[in-house]
Amino acid sequence: MEKLNALFKRRGFVYPGSELYGGLANTYDYGPVGTELLRNIKNLWWKYFVQKRDDMVGLDASLISHHKIWEASGHTAGFSDALVDCKKCKTRIRADHLLEDWISLNKETDTAGKTYHVLTPEKVAIAFETEKVEGWDPQEMSEFIHVFSVPCPKCKDNPGTEWTQVRKFNLLFPIQLGIIEGEQSLAYLRGETAQGMFVDFTNVVNSTRVKLPFGIAQVGKSFRNEITLGNSVFRTIEFEQGEIEYFFDPKKSDWNHLFNGWKESMWNFVTEQLGVHTENLRWREHSDEERSFYSKRTEDLEYNFPFGFKELWGLAYRTDYDLSQHEKHAQKELVVNDPETNEKVKPHVIEPAVGINRLFLMVLSDAYTEEGERVVLKLHPKIAPVKAAVFPLLKNKTELVGKARDVYTMLKQEIDGIVVWDDRGNIGKRYLAQDEIGTPFCITIDFDTLEDDTVTVRDRDSASQERIAISELSNLLSSKLQ
Ligand code: GAP
Repeated sequence: MEKLNALFKRRGFVYPGSELYGGLANTYDYGPVGTELLRNIKNLWWKYFVQKRDDMVGLDASLISHHKIWEASGHTAGFSDALVDCKKCKTRIRADHLLEDWISLNKETDTAGKTYHVLTPEKVAIAFETEKVEGWDPQEMSEFIHVFSVPCPKCKDNPGTEWTQVRKFNLLFPIQLGIIEGEQSLAYLRGETAQGMFVDFTNVVNSTRVKLPFGIAQVGKSFRNEITLGNSVFRTIEFEQGEIEYFFDPKKSDWNHLFNGWKESMWNFVTEQLGVHTENLRWREHSDEERSFYSKRTEDLEYNFPFGFKELWGLAYRTDYDLSQHEKHAQKELVVNDPETNEKVKPHVIEPAVGINRLFLMVLSDAYTEEGERVVLKLHPKIAPVKAAVFPLLKNKTELVGKARDVYTMLKQEIDGIVVWDDRGNIGKRYLAQDEIGTPFCITIDFDTLEDDTVTVRDRDSASQERIAISELSNLLSSKLQ
């Protein structure tokens, strides 16, 4: 992660948030190339999952939302992290992360002969086998820390007894809305984009021609007051989600079939559209303990980040839980009319939910390559932040610079995406700078260009060069950027 972090800062992918004032924990700013990459990923997601399908519509719901939405969804009561504090160095950490990281480093620990009050030997054995403690309550985690003397990862010599008890903290950000007094002024920054799709369900049904099965998709910011582990943008308090609620009639559609179809689409998006290596991906099915009580099946697509396999994208069959909850709390029916039977149907839902920032971190981790002295980001050309760079061989020869400017202006007009100009340093250094941000093509205008109207096109991945007529350049690059 250190090499990636250094590259992020050096080349303008990601900067620490509020750095000028000493920084603000768990926040990040995206620099010029990072912003382009993030936008390209979002646009591609939108195109693939909304624009190119005929069973999807989009939504852009408010970030600030009524407190009753979050009461109905269960977030005000149950959306919390179990945290524990080291009494010595005051580090606050998520208890599940502390335990899972410790277990993965101490797989060979002898668990025989331990006595528990709230845990059971079977539960502990499963945790050592799966390296997961999801579904454990604070008392169970506190007991594990105590029984196995789990040390503080920061100050290292802190035995289990010096931890506080594990306690739960709600993740939602409450906000007070201006002039309205009392409870009415309480609102929340949304903790997930998903609720927008349930709250606007009837609006979408009444204002469009959708028919079951159909999905509502949304890309946008969500906010969670999380403690993070410092793995760049993997987990932040403000992040972007790309979520889909896919509504269907359980009497007419087989949920397993739909679920598997979504698995395939997610996999294809990551491998074919984003070009990620399949060996760095795996599916993980949630156990009964881990899965939410209303979910019939949940699977995570995990990516092998520099800090290990972690959740990239969740897929859950949530039954009709969310619509039913909102029906109950809002006292309004949330149904569609079946045009064949004229009966009311309360749809069930399958939810693929991904963090756009995690897709961003994944494509950068996956593309990062060192070849001798050369660091190259082998990003899929479709999402590369800069599509092409144009260089005059020498910056002090007016004929070369003039010709290069003509090519640059032409490509700026004709290529979909960013084209940059660079005349600093020698050609080798310019190549290295572009390789580090993953620019697929570098075009050099040299003395031959003045004679025959051809340019050198250098390919990022193979570093090979070919001569191409200027008249063919835009078409050739555009076809390779698809
Ligand atoms: N509506 C379901 C939902 O929000 P989630 O597993 O909490 O489910 C979905 O979030 C996805 O959002 C995750 O798989 C992850 O990619 C991303 N995500 C969640 N919390 C995040 C955070 N704090 N920072 C960055 N991405 C996050």
